[in-house]
Amino acid sequence: MQRIPPGFLPPVAMDPDSDVPMYQQLSEWFRLAISGGQLRPGQRVPSTRSLAVELGISRIPVLGAYEQLQAEGFLETFTGAGTCIARSIPADLSMQKVSNAGQLSDAPGQSTSRRVSRRVAQMRQPEQTWLGNMGAFRVGLPALDHFPVGLWSKLVNRHARRLSPEAMAYGDPMGHLPLREAIAEYVGAARAVRCDASQILITTGSQQALQICAHVLLDPGDRVWMEDPGYPGAHQALRTAGAELVPVPVDREGIDVEQGARLGADARAVYISPSHQFPLGMALSASRRMQLLQWAARHEAWIIEDDYDSEYRFGSRPLSSLQGTDRDARVIYLGTFSKVMFPSLRLGYLVVPKDLVSDFHAGRDAIDTFSSMLHQAVMTDFIREGHFARHIRSMRTLYMARREAVLEATERYLGDRLEVIGTEAGMQLAGLLPEDVDDVGVSRKAARHGVSVRPLSPCYLGPAARSGLILGYGGVSPEQIHDGVRKLALCL
Ligand SMILES: Cc1ncc(COP(=O)(O)O)c(C=O)c1O
Repeated sequence: MQRIPPGFLPPVAMDPDSDVPMYQQLSEWFRLAISGGQLRPGQRVPSTRSLAVELGISRIPVLGAYEQLQAEGFLETFTGAGTCIARSIPADLSMQKVSNAGQLSDAPGQSTSRRVSRRVAQMRQPEQTWLGNMGAFRVGLPALDHFPVGLWSKLVNRHARRLSPEAMAYGDPMGHLPLREAIAEYVGAARAVRCDASQILITTGSQQALQICAHVLLDPGDRVWMEDPGYPGAHQALRTAGAELVPVPVDREGIDVEQGARLGADARAVYISPSHQFPLGMALSASRRMQLLQWAARHEAWIIEDDYDSEYRFGSRPLSSLQGTDRDARVIYLGTFSKVMFPSLRLGYLVVPKDLVSDFHAGRDAIDTFSSMLHQAVMTDFIREGHFARHIRSMRTLYMARREAVLEATERYLGDRLEVIGTEAGMQLAGLLPEDVDDVGVSRKAARHGVSVRPLSPCYLGPAARSGLILGYGGVSPEQIHDGVRKLALCL
């Protein structure tokens, strides 16, 4: 057997004052020296006795380190011939380059020059300066300071105190059955969704629901109609699964189905927010609903209905869901608790056609098994004990007042510089800007003044037809609204 004779051992760095035990420091030093190429495969290492003498420490930690490194496969021992670096370790010391390059940059959002998947580029969102602060008009935030935190904590404690082994074990990928039953009842009554609990799948919010839909319904390269402008989160989720997105324009009545049929005749699916189009805010008209359902049935395409905030409709009762009028079971309905409860809860749900339940079950299991059981159980009680309905009622009144405040303030400070649209529902509205105004620039400038407005143009897949700003008002007090709109007027 040929082995590389013992070379000079590079200086061993040990810190006698460290809390890390000597044997651990020594084994870590060996690992780094091997992966860094300073110790080569086959090279002899000193005996435990001589290394202990050289380091001026007892032999016990050296024995411990050698034992550990042998168990991990870094060292090998030959009877009578001492110990050497395992010869099975690759001799080309490419790991050194990796560890050096790994330290070059880990700034988020910055792309690395090392090879990663081609798909990761599709996962990135355009620059999001508006996310940098929690100031007025952050889109998608409910009134968090009006959430009944005390009550919620009591329910969490109730469940945390009596966690049973069943509740701590692996659960059903479709979700906690009592929660699914409560949701089936709720969406049936409030959103005219036709389903039973067997069709409900609990997710970690709409983002994951979209991903599950994409993986279960589509193959890479399949085409999907997207409202244009539309929800960038949906662009991200569907592209990540390899879908090809077909931008379909929206007008006052919502998605233009005729244009969709022309631009994407072979599409496998349609993503749509019919009750409150994101970001422009209109509802899909009754005739477009019928056209879309007919087109989907004729072309055997799926409709992914994102019903993210339609609990809040002002001036009329909430519109019924598209799923409720679908006679061909082509609609997959997405709901979320991010707006009616709070986003960090990470709970949402899908309502899937009966014949797709086992496919969705498999998709959910493959993606991340199931959602946190504790929060599913707490959410069930929150609904069952009537707190959910009460909270939605009181938030509807609050958001109505906040919406009035935004309308008043924009009228007063911005006049016709901002054409406000999409005010009938939800927790946000859109303001169209004159064509020559750079909405991304305005958003960036506003962020520097502590105002968070999302620009409209990055919501387009194709060239932006309009420039504008999306103003979320759910989580903003009337005082902040006035101050925010005043600052926005200065930025414009
Ligand atoms: C159109 C749309 N869908 C869904 C969501 C909610 O996403 P999630 O449930 O992943 O928090 C949002 C949030 O802003 C949204 O704007």
